[in-house]
Order: sequence, then structure tokens, then C-alpha cells
Amino acid sequence: MRFDIITIFPDMFAPVVNESMIKLAQEKGKVRIDVHDLRDYTTDKHRKVDDRPFGGGPGMVMTAQPLFDAVKKIKGRRKAKVILTCPTGQPLTQKMAKELAKEKNLIILCGHYEGVDDRVRQEVVDECISIGDYVLTGGELPAMVLLDCVTRLLPGVLGKEESLVDESFEGNLLEYPQFTRPANFRGIEVPNVLLSGHHEAIEKWRKAQSVNKTKKYRPDLIK
Ligand code: ADE
Repeated sequence: MRFDIITIFPDMFAPVVNESMIKLAQEKGKVRIDVHDLRDYTTDKHRKVDDRPFGGGPGMVMTAQPLFDAVKKIKGRRKAKVILTCPTGQPLTQKMAKELAKEKNLIILCGHYEGVDDRVRQEVVDECISIGDYVLTGGELPAMVLLDCVTRLLPGVLGKEESLVDESFEGNLLEYPQFTRPANFRGIEVPNVLLSGHHEAIEKWRKAQSVNKTKKYRPDLIK
């Protein structure tokens, strides 16, 4: 899978792209990530990417031209789905991440300021995605979240494929609690059933824990 990320802050991506599972996924050839500086697509000498909003109001709006041109150039080389990160988009879910993991090429546009000229959304963008009902200073962190949650779903990226099976949001449940050695830590014992070696009982316990945890912390998922 290939990601093209278009941003005014390309340097923000280095720590995410060059560490941990995302780094490994690139080394294994499972994913390719290209980060493009939006200012390279501007046509004026000041490399301006924003302007005042028509109709007045505070802040600046990202202009259409550099975003149009950046997408056009990348799409001239390969077909791709175009995503804009913005707080007014569809809230990101695990289900959406799974759908996006089926794509071959994704272009992510990182929104900024008071927003993006709506003609970009109308003409260039296939999906607007929000990572939650709060406002960040820009779309770079959401783009990194998207990159991370989609990349880890690509076949062969995680060590054990099973680690995708029991995790949170699978079957609309939160994951059960996990424990590791020592069995007694500061007087707090690991639940006995986990030490029993009785696989059926363990599975039953875990399922019940998942259901209880979901009812308590995320009753909306049960509905
Ligand atoms: N840009 C600013 N806030 C955002 C959010 N919550 N999700 C996606 N993009 C954003």
C-alpha cells in the first residue's frame, strides 16, 4: 500500500514514519510513505498556501490551487483515494480503517487554519475524516493516526496475525484485561483462571470481561 501525505509541516512526520511498526512495515515492503510539502506546489514566490475567507471572519483558509495541483500530479502517476483530515469529517472507526486498508493508494491532505477552500472538498476529496470531536491545530496528527491504524492492518505488518483477532472493537467489544509475570505484584493476584491452563474457561472468562468492560465504559458499542 502506498500513502502520499500532503502537508505544510512535512518534518512533523519523521518521528512516526521512522520508528516502530511503521518503520518496520516500510522495511518489509508492506507500505510506502511519501510526505510532500504543499508549498512545493505553490505558484507565487512567497509560497503562500492560505488567504482570508470570502465573507469575512477570523483566520485564514487554505487556498485551492496548491492542493489541486499536488493531487493532480500524484494522480497523474497512480489512481488513488483522496482523504482530507478535518474536524467536520466522518469520525474514524476501526471499521473505516479496515475498509481503507483494502485500498492500494491513499492521498491524505492535512487541513489547517480555519479550513480548506470548499472547492477542494467538492472536486478533489473522496472522504473527509475526523479523529474525534475536538479541534486540533492541524490535520497532521490525524493523518498520522490514520496512517498508523491502517498500516497495522495490512497483511504481514504485525508479527502474529492473531493479534488482530481479539483486540478492542472486534465484534463491537473492548478487549479483555491482560496480565503478565509476576503472578503476584504488590499483593495483587492475577485472576486464578488465567493460571489454570484451562483454555475453554479462559476464553469464557475473557469474553465475560470484554462484555462487562464494554457495558461499563462504552455502552454505546453494545447498542
Ligand atoms: N483537524 C483539526 N482537528 C481535527 C480532528 N479532530 N480530526 C481531523 N482533523 C482535524
